[in-house]
Amino acid sequence: MTNPLLELDNVTKRFGRVVIAEDLSFAVGSGEVVGIVGPNGAGKTSLFGLISGDLAPGAGQVRFAGRAVTRLDPAARCRLGIGRTYQVPRPFPDMTVFENLLVAAQQGGGLRRRPSYAAAAQALERTGMSAQANVPAERLGLLQRKRLELARALATQPTLLLLDEVAGGLTDPEVAELVEIVRGVNAEGTAVIWIEHVVRALTAVVTRLICLSGGKFVGDGEPARVLAEPAVREVFLGSEVTAALAGGSFEASPEAEGDGAVGRERGGP
Ligand SMILES: Nc1ncnc2c1ncn2[C@@H]1O[C@H](COP(=O)(O)OP(=O)(O)OP(=O)(O)O)[C@@H](O)[C@H]1O
Ligand SMILES: [Mg+2]
Repeated sequence: MTNPLLELDNVTKRFGRVVIAEDLSFAVGSGEVVGIVGPNGAGKTSLFGLISGDLAPGAGQVRFAGRAVTRLDPAARCRLGIGRTYQVPRPFPDMTVFENLLVAAQQGGGLRRRPSYAAAAQALERTGMSAQANVPAERLGLLQRKRLELARALATQPTLLLLDEVAGGLTDPEVAELVEIVRGVNAEGTAVIWIEHVVRALTAVVTRLICLSGGKFVGDGEPARVLAEPAVREVFLGSEVTAALAGGSFEASPEAEGDGAVGRERGGP
């Protein structure tokens, strides 16, 4: 990779005794689409926190678009082009969908008034939320809030889009629609890193898959090859991975997705 867009150099982060990133180094190129899988508590969301600036590393450096961003706060990193969604959606509840997108475009993306309207309108259309433009965010169900989360990230005009479990609970046609949105965004040059338990969503679009466990990478490479690695199978719901390899596609933890998404909606920083 000649000019990586994102680079982590020997990043370490601990919460007390829990190691969520252990000497992690990796690079993502402009235009890449990378999937991240791993068991609950592996450190996936925390890795996004380290990239987006919500978490400061104990050691190591984060570089984005050729500059050190380790000391920059999330707002500054967002303006540089790092857009993210949160596993637990965080809209402004009493603002409408469109107003939420305007805030994202202006405050997150640093756009002035007129271009911010264009960015918000584009994000609305792209995520299929035009009919909800004037609905207060607090009236949206979980799936629509997840969609708004994606729209908000897009409205900041990212060159690196970080998606944290946006496919949970979607039907097959909805997953296909989401994959198309991600493909479209990527086709315009935005790099994507997508954390997802719905592995069939990832395998439809990513060209590289990373498996994280205990703050370490246990696999990184071509998706089918990574899913076939014994170390990955061992940490990542072994039997389902085996089933996926046999059957072609699967959902890693179907019981835990959907409204209320038990167990994993607790974690977003
Ligand atoms: N702010 C925090 N303070 C202390 N511990 C934390 C904090 N944030 C996360 N953790 C812990 O760090 C570990 C990694 O959490 P993280 O949310 O990154 O996992 P994850 O891979 O995203 O899991 P999931 O698949 O459930 O979303 C967990 O043990 C979690 O409890
Ligand atoms: Mg998480």
